[in-house]
Amino acid sequence: MKKTVFIFPGNEQLGERLISQLDADKGAFILRRFPDSETYIRLLTDVRDRDIIVICTLHQPDQKFLPLLFFCNLLKEKKAGSICLVAPYLGYMRQDKEFNTGEAITAVYFAKQLSAIVDQLITIDPHLHRIKNLQEIYSIPCSALHAQEVIAGWIKNNIPHALLIGPDEESEQWVANVSKNTGIPFLILKKTRHGDRNVEVEVPKMKKYNTHIPVLVDDIISSAGTMIETAVNLKKSGFKQPVCIGVHAVFAKEAYENLMRAGVQEIITSNTIHHPTNKIDVSKIISRRLLEI
Ligand code: R5P
Repeated sequence: MKKTVFIFPGNEQLGERLISQLDADKGAFILRRFPDSETYIRLLTDVRDRDIIVICTLHQPDQKFLPLLFFCNLLKEKKAGSICLVAPYLGYMRQDKEFNTGEAITAVYFAKQLSAIVDQLITIDPHLHRIKNLQEIYSIPCSALHAQEVIAGWIKNNIPHALLIGPDEESEQWVANVSKNTGIPFLILKKTRHGDRNVEVEVPKMKKYNTHIPVLVDDIISSAGTMIETAVNLKKSGFKQPVCIGVHAVFAKEAYENLMRAGVQEIITSNTIHHPTNKIDVSKIISRRLLEI
């Protein structure tokens, strides 16, 4: 039987691609706010015994989680066979440790909540740092897929004479793999974080790379502080204007505008979160996995 895909608001472009790649049925539902901002949901498709895929990327997760929880409860009440959540961006992965006494390790709490409402989770490049594997915190089967292959393809086709740059040691996992797929050299920089928006990134002077196009590759662009600090210091060290590539276009508040003002050549993201900078398509990576399950 064909799978039924429900697309949450904001996920339409990726969701429609997945439906066509999977040859799946599109589920219909109404999701809106009451005047007092509480959530109203109505299911318009019969889901009994059907395998359901819910597409809901989870940036700004506080606004999205409650509607998702209500929707999954409704699916279960209406006897859906199984529920697979495709959250191309998985929020609440960065507070993965009690850095200061008394802090909530929200990565763990969020994982517990999501594990209780769906049967399976598929995501792209979750921020795995101190937590090495989603199964450490999720009790449902999880697939953490990677965008490196499509990022590598984009760079190869668009940036001649590139130098890959990872702004911090956490980015090495993505940058090293992109380098492996393309043969493009890479540098990993040293970042010190002093606060949510305050980071320091050290860029060495390396004359041999001054004619290359620096391509910054990171998983998340949130405040863009990391990318801005790196771009500014690259310039000071004699490098050319960089191209910035983020897997996840989180772009908190004015982050995108601030990054453009920092004098970067171009900002490119994948479509895990809908944004005008999306030029790298992850739909086939997701549909390939969905076809296996
Ligand atoms: C760091 O832990 C991540 O890999 C990113 O570098 C970070 O999330 C970027 O955040 P921001 O854009 O706020 O500097």
